[in-house]
Amino acid sequence: METMTTITSRKAIRSYTGKKPSEAAMQQILTAVQAAPVAMGGYDKLHVTIIENPAILKAIDAAGAKFFKKPDAHPLYGAPILVLISAKLGMGPALGNADYASAGILVHNMALAATDQNVGSCYIWGAVMGMNQDADLVAKLDLPAGFVPCCGVTLGETTETFAPREIPAGRLAITKL
Ligand SMILES: Cc1cc2nc3c(=O)[nH]c(=O)nc-3n(C[C@H](O)[C@H](O)[C@H](O)COP(=O)(O)O)c2cc1C
Repeated sequence: METMTTITSRKAIRSYTGKKPSEAAMQQILTAVQAAPVAMGGYDKLHVTIIENPAILKAIDAAGAKFFKKPDAHPLYGAPILVLISAKLGMGPALGNADYASAGILVHNMALAATDQNVGSCYIWGAVMGMNQDADLVAKLDLPAGFVPCCGVTLGETTETFAPREIPAGRLAITKL
């Protein structure tokens, strides 16, 4: 797709057939994550985990439902893949704003590439926060030492279609000085 077509066509997809994207589409999405900008070029401070294991996906889904206090919810929406972004703790006990920004940009690059490939995607923050409250579950991710999960993106085939959306010009307040 042309760049602006991709940007205006992207939308949060919360309905999946359960089928994974094609290998070719996944390659494009992974190229997009590798191409993302990272604060101070700290590529080694970020880690990408492609989660396809149904048992782990189910456990994260359940942790998210618990977090949202909605036992019947499925905050991963039945997507067959969650790509999780984790960042490395620096000096302090918590991640900084640039860590979260870099992680978010990695996710957004993947969402745009997914849209370009007609693959469904949705940013996942809530379920990741729920997962982070379960140390045993986080241990199953086998992350390198010192890495903390930040956010993720669901990926999968969807019956929804992508077309440029009408974007309200005044949606965000803009000040010009
Ligand atoms: C930082 C961030 C966190 C988000 N977390 C979630 C989430 O946990 N679950 C979810 O379904 N959508 C999540 N979203 C998607 C937003 O709800 C969605 O992008 C917004 O409603 C606008 O809809 P659109 O993406 O279709 O344009 C998140 C989006 C962002 C930018």
